[in-house]
Amino acid sequence: TRTLPEAQHAVLTTASADDAQTIDELAAETGLKPETVTGAAFELEDAGLVAIDESVVVDYTLTGEGERYVEAGLPEVRLYRAAVDAGARDDPVSMGQVIGASGLNGGEVDVALANLARKGYGRIDSGQLSADDADPDADPEADALAALADGSDEGLDTAVLDQLESRNLVERHERTVRSVRLTDDGVDAVMLEGVEAAETVDRLTPEMLTTGEWRDVEFTAYNVEADAPEHRGGKTHILRQTAERVKDVLVGMGFEEMDGPHADAEFWINDCLFMPQDHPARTHWDQFALDVPPMGELPEELVERVESAHRNGEGEDGDGYHSPWTEEVAREVDLRGHTTSLSMRYLSGHAVGELEPPQRYFSVEKVYRNDTLDPTHLLEFFQIEGWVMAEDLSVRDLMGTFTEFYSQFGITDIQFKPHYNPYTEPSFELFGRHPETDELIEIGNSGMFRDEVLRPLGVDCDVMAWGLALERLLMLIYGFDDIRDVHGTLCDLDLLRETEVLY
Ligand code: PHE
Repeated sequence: TRTLPEAQHAVLTTASADDAQTIDELAAETGLKPETVTGAAFELEDAGLVAIDESVVVDYTLTGEGERYVEAGLPEVRLYRAAVDAGARDDPVSMGQVIGASGLNGGEVDVALANLARKGYGRIDSGQLSADDADPDADPEADALAALADGSDEGLDTAVLDQLESRNLVERHERTVRSVRLTDDGVDAVMLEGVEAAETVDRLTPEMLTTGEWRDVEFTAYNVEADAPEHRGGKTHILRQTAERVKDVLVGMGFEEMDGPHADAEFWINDCLFMPQDHPARTHWDQFALDVPPMGELPEELVERVESAHRNGEGEDGDGYHSPWTEEVAREVDLRGHTTSLSMRYLSGHAVGELEPPQRYFSVEKVYRNDTLDPTHLLEFFQIEGWVMAEDLSVRDLMGTFTEFYSQFGITDIQFKPHYNPYTEPSFELFGRHPETDELIEIGNSGMFRDEVLRPLGVDCDVMAWGLALERLLMLIYGFDDIRDVHGTLCDLDLLRETEVLY
């Protein structure tokens, strides 16, 4: 005798070898739920005791509009009848007259006109309707609708049903019907071997353990291959993952990390960088000004030296701007448009005290610009800020640093373009080639800080510096071409879920 779980036992002993029975029929006979019968049938099929046949059954139901036309008649049929009544079989009749006589509403008129000629009911020419010789009582679409309303869809023409579906008068449904019958092994098992139902339990309880009942029960097998709903855990955003990777790379290259305020005095954001207060460069970034009290503490002596650089210049041939400069403007607070404000805080000694060369610092932090949103611009993005302070630096050191940095991400074809910044000379923009579109995209800005920046800060060796866009680096690595794919409400969730940052 073979012992089977209850549901399997019920299905096996109910199924027959000669007549296949559907799952619904077996469910009715065994008193089990259809899904329980299906599960049991699959188990029995795996054991070779039953065979399952699957067929796809199509059926049609009327839509609301279809139901209305069953009552009222198809609009094209009604229009045709009205046309015939108006004499349009003999001579063309004006459309207005026929429509008025038909009693169709505006929507129905549209439907009627869309179907009139196709079904051979008539033609319209310069506002006149001529009715053709047709039989409105033998309309195959009307007949099919009536048959479906009666609940019989046997023998209906598929072309007609397709037409009704495309007119949105019926809906098509497909379902899989499974039928089960005993195999020869199944017959043997029932007839010769004999089967009995085991009492199955799906979990072990403390009582079963203490009473020893666990020895006698049959445990339900787990189906580890059953379909289960997908559960997605949270995961670190690829932008954040890449930021971490960038930090690792820079730390590996000997850099230390800077941090500092997102909302900062214009002094650190602009004035230290030798950006004249009346120059368009001050709105260059279209910064977000904050309606908050001005910054209280600014280092007094540094403020004086910065003001003097602006007014009188610094270094051998510097002449300054001779433009207005007030401490009031310098104390105003903005969201930083670049993290070069942090570089100023560190280079000045304000952040971590006086620094002796050589030094290397970086940050991977948010900056805020009042840009217009487009595929490559956001109002906030991550900047990879960095600088190296040392004696006798050259442009080759700058280029070499980028080459080394980007090669760690597999990017080996960086291009440089001369550029202008008020605070660096020379200056270079960096470009990389987009792997999908093959376009050159700007990925950063860099240069050697000018004397007008460094001397007031108290630095008397060279400093090379840069600001690179993390999002652009991501575009080069992963090949997406709209920044909004990874950021904000339009983001591409599959891209975010499936992309893994490679280490
Ligand atoms: N602040 C520049 C920018 O945001 C980047 C930069 C930093 C350029 C330091 C030169 C030196 O584009």
